[in-house]
Amino acid sequence: MSNRIPVGILGATGMVGQEFVSFLQNHPWFDLTWLGASDRSAGKPYREATSWRLGGEIPAYARDIVVSDSKPEGAPQLMFSAMDASVATEIEQAFAASGRTIVSNSRNHRMDTDVPLLVPEINADHLSLLAGQKKARGWSGQIITNPNCSTVVLVMALAPLKKFGLKKIVVTTMQAISGAGYPGVASMDINANVVPFIGGEEEKMQQETQKILGTASAPLETLVSASCNRVPVVDGHIMSVSVEFEQKSSEADIINAFRGFRGIPQQKGLPSAPPCPVIYMSEKDRPQPRRDVERENGMAVFVGRLRPCPVLTYKFTALGHNTVRGAAGAAVLNAELIKSEGFLG
Ligand SMILES: NC(=O)c1ccc[n+]([C@@H]2O[C@H](COP(=O)([O-])OP(=O)(O)OC[C@H]3O[C@@H](n4cnc5c(N)ncnc54)[C@H](OP(=O)(O)O)[C@@H]3O)[C@@H](O)[C@H]2O)c1
Repeated sequence: MSNRIPVGILGATGMVGQEFVSFLQNHPWFDLTWLGASDRSAGKPYREATSWRLGGEIPAYARDIVVSDSKPEGAPQLMFSAMDASVATEIEQAFAASGRTIVSNSRNHRMDTDVPLLVPEINADHLSLLAGQKKARGWSGQIITNPNCSTVVLVMALAPLKKFGLKKIVVTTMQAISGAGYPGVASMDINANVVPFIGGEEEKMQQETQKILGTASAPLETLVSASCNRVPVVDGHIMSVSVEFEQKSSEADIINAFRGFRGIPQQKGLPSAPPCPVIYMSEKDRPQPRRDVERENGMAVFVGRLRPCPVLTYKFTALGHNTVRGAAGAAVLNAELIKSEGFLG
């Protein structure tokens, strides 16, 4: 008998849904058997229901799957969710109540105190929240979330530095247009321009960072100040980060901390885990979105330009792939962790 695990995608026709379809192709553990979207798409084969925006063709294994409406009947036990936030709350809850495990990208449940906001390298221990979640909500299933696409880049760069005592964090992002979904920002607004506002993004970065870097029961108290900008880059969120530390540390200490950082996914060799989750680049003009973001299958975070900060202690640049490590890839790695840690029913 096969040990492979059937999985489904809610919101399969959208931008992130397409990234899931692409990322799950040839997965060593998971078989994509079910695709869900709105009533507008239900009943159509995937090739007709979706307008494919990624490079290349729709992967052959998914082309003929008939899209279902977003109801739990007939859906697999393990579900990825990439639904529009306006509908995700009720639908994800209905699937969890019906016994499904929902691994979600949507913001709706991220800040619920009984829902893990998971980055497997950083806070796998937050999976301990699931027992209380099931009990309090009366669900036989469960909801696990991954962070906002800019937050994940920041926390991956900060996690190796936690041992120096994070006192204050100031971050300014330059975020790719793919982070706004499709059609996203109007071309007249973003061509040769910068838009210094992304609705709700700064609050999400500040709160999610504290939750992820804290314990399962209490967020980190460190102050985080985020300024978010949309820039004319297709894929890859890049950010300038300044940090104040409690402890004295040299530049060599910090670079060693970045380079030596590993988590449970690396120790267990999970299929989607990058061997080195944080890659420090010593070239003076790297990382760059166009040159670096696709490396390591989009799953690593690239850091560079470490230097003293005259206001806080040190400053540096960080880059990550917003639709892979910031969305579909993050959720697939979460599912691999859940499975390997025994939380999958
Ligand atoms: N883009 C990113 O980089 C990124 C990163 C992290 C997280 N996210 C989050 O991921 C989610 C999806 O983002 P996206 O950019 O992929 O959005 P999108 O392209 O607009 O896709 C939305 C999906 O939701 C489905 N949907 C809409 N109304 C529905 C309903 N009533 N019932 C069931 N399904 C419904 C759509 O199906 P139809 O095609 O049938 O309408 C579509 O599959 C959002 O919550 C977003 O905040 C996005």
